[in-house]
Amino acid sequence: MKAVRLLEYGGQLVFNDVPTPTIARDEILVKIKSTAVNHLDLVKASGTARQILPIDLPWIPGHEFSGVVEQIGSDVAAYAPGDAVFGTSDMGAYAEYLAVKPAVIVRKPSNLSFEEAASVPVASQTAWQGIFTHGHLEKGQTILIHGGAGAVGAYSVQLASHAGATVIATASGDDEAYLNSIGASQVIDYREAQFEKVLREKVDVVFDLIGGDIQKRSFLVLKEGGHLVAATQPVSQEEAARHRVSGVMMRLAPSADVLGRIARLLEEGTIRPDVATVYALQDAAQAWKDITGNLPGVHGMSPSGPGAARRTSHGKIVLRVDA
Ligand SMILES: NC(=O)c1ccc[n+]([C@@H]2O[C@H](COP(=O)([O-])OP(=O)(O)OC[C@H]3O[C@@H](n4cnc5c(N)ncnc54)[C@H](OP(=O)(O)O)[C@@H]3O)[C@@H](O)[C@H]2O)c1
Repeated sequence: MKAVRLLEYGGQLVFNDVPTPTIARDEILVKIKSTAVNHLDLVKASGTARQILPIDLPWIPGHEFSGVVEQIGSDVAAYAPGDAVFGTSDMGAYAEYLAVKPAVIVRKPSNLSFEEAASVPVASQTAWQGIFTHGHLEKGQTILIHGGAGAVGAYSVQLASHAGATVIATASGDDEAYLNSIGASQVIDYREAQFEKVLREKVDVVFDLIGGDIQKRSFLVLKEGGHLVAATQPVSQEEAARHRVSGVMMRLAPSADVLGRIARLLEEGTIRPDVATVYALQDAAQAWKDITGNLPGVHGMSPSGPGAARRTSHGKIVLRVDA
């Protein structure tokens, strides 16, 4: 099969032939239709975080996909060849075929294209687990989402709003109308204002998708007993205790149960995906160049803040594997 691989840390992506995976009795072989680009792909490939995020080289990137079941192992009962599915993987989705366990896939919502479906699993499940599992967000509460127009942020805004919370998001001012259209009641332009000076009342939950100074300042706007959930860096437990809040750095734990609930919300049109650009799989290197300019100022990879360059649109970058 054709696949995109990284041969050495920090190296170029190469597109060539590799052996097609074989499946165990409890696995499914999926013919990939589309995959999507995540910051994590680039972070792992750079090697800067190899102590906590090691990869075996040569490495096929790709943490999410949509596709069609090609073959099932003898112990698999829930799926049959021809089923359209989507889901997550530890790696390997930048390829024509992928072997997965049934526990990480779900049937693709019929109203989503394969390209849209591939953009969903990582961002939406991160949003769900960030705001509900770790943030314990409830109806009637207020949440502040840093990076609200990003891939994870946009699902967080939609899910929190659907859950009956008041949603405040920080984002570039250009994204205000978009964020209002998906459920944010207030948008704070991070390039123009400091959120702690703009907010009139303290919030119950902060979901921090940016980190650094943003995280430190977030303690100032949390109610006592509130929750700070960070997706990009650990939270100081001393600071959390001092402000009488909980602080946790989350790590996505993919779950077919959560993705199944998200699939139902997508199918009924309650939430919607956001695809920015679609590239062919062999153009993955170009897609990575695009997202590099889009990385928030985390992982030491790219600056963000007043004066920093911004990407042209919100939404995920998708790689089309098989039209
Ligand atoms: N822990 C986990 O399990 C997990 C899982 C998934 C993702 N993540 C991490 O979560 C982060 C967000 O991921 P993503 O896919 O949503 O990224 P994304 O789609 O690139 O979105 C980032 C957003 O942040 C905005 N932004 C940049 N600087 C900002 C600031 N100072 N204040 C407010 N907004 C700012 C950007 O807006 P402009 O472009 O307008 O500047 C952009 O809309 C990444 O670091 C990713 O690695 C963690």
